[in-house]
Amino acid sequence: MSMLGSRLEAALELLAKCESNALFADIGSDHAFFAIEAIKRGIAERAIASDINPLPLQKGRENAEKQALDIEFVLSDGFDSIENKGVTSAAVCGMGGELIAGMLLRSETAHRCELILQPMSAPEELRRSMWENGFLIIEEKFVTDSGKPYVIIRAKYSGNNTKYSYCDLYLGQSRPRCDAFSEYCKKTAIAAKKRRLGHIARNESTEEIDCLIAYCEDQTQRTSL
Ligand SMILES: C[S@@+](CC[C@H](N)C(=O)[O-])C[C@H]1O[C@@H](n2cnc3c(N)ncnc32)[C@H](O)[C@@H]1O
Repeated sequence: MSMLGSRLEAALELLAKCESNALFADIGSDHAFFAIEAIKRGIAERAIASDINPLPLQKGRENAEKQALDIEFVLSDGFDSIENKGVTSAAVCGMGGELIAGMLLRSETAHRCELILQPMSAPEELRRSMWENGFLIIEEKFVTDSGKPYVIIRAKYSGNNTKYSYCDLYLGQSRPRCDAFSEYCKKTAIAAKKRRLGHIARNESTEEIDCLIAYCEDQTQRTSL
């Protein structure tokens, strides 16, 4: 396995599917390994690495310099300071779903470029925001990394909203039959069971959560057969 780990390797695989990586931006780049590998492997022609914090940005700059790679480093909250650079594709990985959703909504660049998104939490809030604000989820990839399940989303603004169900919010709409998706379902079911207790305490309906839990348990049993 490379320095990326299977989570960012999967994100890089999706980046390679983008129509144009003429100028790729890695938002929240931290160590900048993702942008470094995108350039080294010829997936991106040019790259910007940006982070809201100066220390990770400096760490990333040093990592790129060690390999004599020409990557532009920009201190930026989300896309805010890279709006006029002509970015054609961008990755936002390793941050919360709500934070990512906020970055996309307020950015013109995010409405024009191809997107690779990897929410660390609240993927349902990211999907909800995207589907209700004209972003199209083209593909979702599920992977496990160090035993933990992750989802990576490839998306683009289309201007058309997407209809979705409660299960879609938590599991996406592609739902592939693979071990990684089964692990994702296990994690989703555990969280759903906790939320269910809250619904019961507040005397709210558990119908949708029950449906989600049943789907997840069914999926988990299928792949363990
Ligand atoms: C957990 S690291 C993820 C690093 C890398 N993208 C990955 O997936 O492994 C999160 C990084 O995002 C940066 N970050 C947090 N909020 C941000 C924001 N609003 N805009 C840009 N970067 C942000 C942090 O400083 C940190 O370096």
